[in-house]
Amino acid sequence: MRTPVIAGNWKMNMHKRQALELVQGLHYGLTWPGEVDVIVAPPFTALDTVVEFCAKSYISVAGQNMHWEESGAFTGEISPSFLKDAGADYILIGHSERRKYFGETNEIVNKKIKAAFQHNLIPIVCFGETLEERERGDFVRVIEQQILQGLTGLTHEEGSELIIAYEPVWAIGTGKTATPTQAEEAHAFIRAHLFQLFSPDVADAVRILYGGSVKPKNSRELLSQKNIDGALVGGAALKAEDFIGIIKSANA
Ligand code: PGA
Repeated sequence: MRTPVIAGNWKMNMHKRQALELVQGLHYGLTWPGEVDVIVAPPFTALDTVVEFCAKSYISVAGQNMHWEESGAFTGEISPSFLKDAGADYILIGHSERRKYFGETNEIVNKKIKAAFQHNLIPIVCFGETLEERERGDFVRVIEQQILQGLTGLTHEEGSELIIAYEPVWAIGTGKTATPTQAEEAHAFIRAHLFQLFSPDVADAVRILYGGSVKPKNSRELLSQKNIDGALVGGAALKAEDFIGIIKSANA
C-alpha cells in the first residue's frame, strides 16, 4: 500500500504573515490527516516561519527549487544544504514553470535529483507534456525522455524514495483537469517505465501524484484511480479550506 501524498505548491505567493496563517489554518482546521503525507512548499522567504510552526504539526515542508551545487559563486541560488538547514525535507524539481521560464532541462533535473538525495531531501519530480506536444501525438516521446534522462543513474533505493508528479502542462492553472482516465493512463505509463528502468519493487513503491487544476470537487475521483497516489496542488493549496478538502478526499 502506498501512502498518499498531498503537496501544496504555493509558487510565488504568500508573505510571511499569510504563510503562517495558512499553515495555522491547515493545522487547526484538520487536526489529523489520517494516513496521508501532507507537504507544503512555501517561497524561500517564508520557509523559516512555516518550518517553525510545522515542527509541531503533521505538515512537512518542501523547497520549490534549488541549485545542484553545494555552495559558491551562483548569485541568487539556494543550495540543497541551505534548504536542509532551513528545515525542509522535500524539494520540488523540474516543475513545468521552471522548465518553461528558467530553461530547466532533463539533464539539470537529473543533477538536482542526485544533489537532493546527497542531502537527504526527497525529490518530488515533475513530468508532463504541453498541449502542443499532446496534440501532435508526442506524449509518449516527451514523457519517456523526461523519465529516462531525468532519472538516469539513480540507485534502486533512491528510485523507490522518489515522488513523481505527473502534471500535464495544459491543465496547470487553467481549470482544465485531465479526466481521471487520461490521468490514470499517464500514471500507468510512468509506472511501467519505472518497472523497466529500476525494478518491479521500485515501480510498486513510487508515489505518483497528479497535478493540474486539482480542486476539492475533482480530487476524490482522481485519487480513486489505481495509479494515482496523491496530488500536487497549486491554486487550491492557497486556501486552507480547499486544501483540507483535498487531503480528506485522499483519506476517503
Ligand atoms: P494548479 O497548479 O493546481 O494551480 O493547476 C498545479 C501546479 O503547478 O503544481
